[in-house]
Amino acid sequence: MTKLAVLTSGGDASGMNAAIRAVVRTAIYKGFEVYGVKQGFDGLIEGNFEKMSLGSVADIIQRGGTVLQTSRSDVFMTESGQKIALDNLLQLGIEHLIIIGGNGSLAGGYAFSKLGLNVIGIPASIDNDIVYTNSIGFDTAVNTVLEAINRIRDTATSHGRVFIIEVMGHNCGELALAAGVAGGAESILIPEIEPDINGVIDKIGQGTKRGKLHSIIIVAEDVYPVDKLKDIIKEKTAQDVRVTILGHVQRGGTPTAVDRILASTLGKEAVEVIAEGAKNVLIASYNNKLLTIPLAEIIHGQKTLKLELFEIARILSI
Ligand code: F6P
Repeated sequence: MTKLAVLTSGGDASGMNAAIRAVVRTAIYKGFEVYGVKQGFDGLIEGNFEKMSLGSVADIIQRGGTVLQTSRSDVFMTESGQKIALDNLLQLGIEHLIIIGGNGSLAGGYAFSKLGLNVIGIPASIDNDIVYTNSIGFDTAVNTVLEAINRIRDTATSHGRVFIIEVMGHNCGELALAAGVAGGAESILIPEIEPDINGVIDKIGQGTKRGKLHSIIIVAEDVYPVDKLKDIIKEKTAQDVRVTILGHVQRGGTPTAVDRILASTLGKEAVEVIAEGAKNVLIASYNNKLLTIPLAEIIHGQKTLKLELFEIARILSI
């Protein structure tokens, strides 16, 4: 009998539950035995397993977060931690592990696969920073940021203010760029492009001359200190400026239809490829095509920014 385990790891992303549901239901449909691992890699080391049934994943497709919980495990990054985890899996006769998570989790999974276990990755991260694929949770996060921009725009216009909105992204500008374009931001600062502070100031000045009632500036985390930016704008433009750091509201919430469908598709495919004998791959989805890509290739890849989207933002915000 084929036995597999599934876990979620790293920052939670909306749609992880839909992916767990798809893995469990497809596995049972195929006659496999499937275990859920609680609290990510930490649970793997602690032997925190639960045999899953059809009922264990009922009523979760619409829920944000992850019912299996998650962790950022330091112990799992050590060889001794991974050996304990491997023993725990082998004692139950489990030879396949499905990891739902982001770049760090997939790198951990790749290291683990070198001990002999078959590791299959499912991309899930609001950062959307995994190469060759869209990640579960990104679409929901973009829409959450977008809703925040819309609300902030109302108050910005009412008071005639400049708003700086900081969004997550962890060294990747995908979330800031997508939300910034969709939200009609005046300026977008992302890690892939050197911040042009004079350009931000010029744009505010041009807007004011044309009688614009507000300016929205989106800043991806760690690209530029938002309070420093606020002080510079105040000094150079004499405008009233406010800062909003969106933080973890970007991670939760009910997944969008796009994320639920992506999660259901990738979750089902992860089990299908195990049945077909695939080893140590990521299940990727790009331009509506499903691909299996060696984990080794994923963890060394660097996502390239959609420069054309940045150009659209630049031109449309004149
Ligand atoms: O990777 C997802 C992410 O939300 C990043 O965008 C952010 O930098 C980080 O996780 C925050 O992590 P934590 O929840 O551990 O503070």
